[in-house]
Amino acid sequence: MALIEWTDDFSVGVEVFDDDHKILIGMINELHEALNEGRGLDLVEDIFDRLEDYTNTHLASEESLMKSTGYAGYEEHKLAHEDWIKKLQEFKDKYQNEELILADVAMNQFLHSWLVDHIRGVDLLYKDHFKEKGYT
Ligand code: FEO
Repeated sequence: MALIEWTDDFSVGVEVFDDDHKILIGMINELHEALNEGRGLDLVEDIFDRLEDYTNTHLASEESLMKSTGYAGYEEHKLAHEDWIKKLQEFKDKYQNEELILADVAMNQFLHSWLVDHIRGVDLLYKDHFKEKGYT
């Protein structure tokens, strides 16, 4: 069973960013499944690496469009991104240092809240701005 299911209330109103978020959700679910099935360390680390890479690409896209369209919350959102990627890196380090065991409930809680809290708590704040700018 997937850890996170996409629903319309995740939509930030910009298709390209919704698509990115769907891909990130897919990676989180893939990671969750690999951890729960006790899959090999190499596979789990590969998914973590891909998640980190795609997250960085997505953050750069959001920041670029926020900046070019004069989004008032740009600086605050950028700081939230720095914190967001740092949390992922710290979590990956904890996993690699075996401070968290496979399928630990903390792992699932982190993966879920790491993504959902950012989309719902930070990304949705730009929805009206991009709508006013004509993005869909
Ligand atoms: Fe969708 Fe602000 O990351």
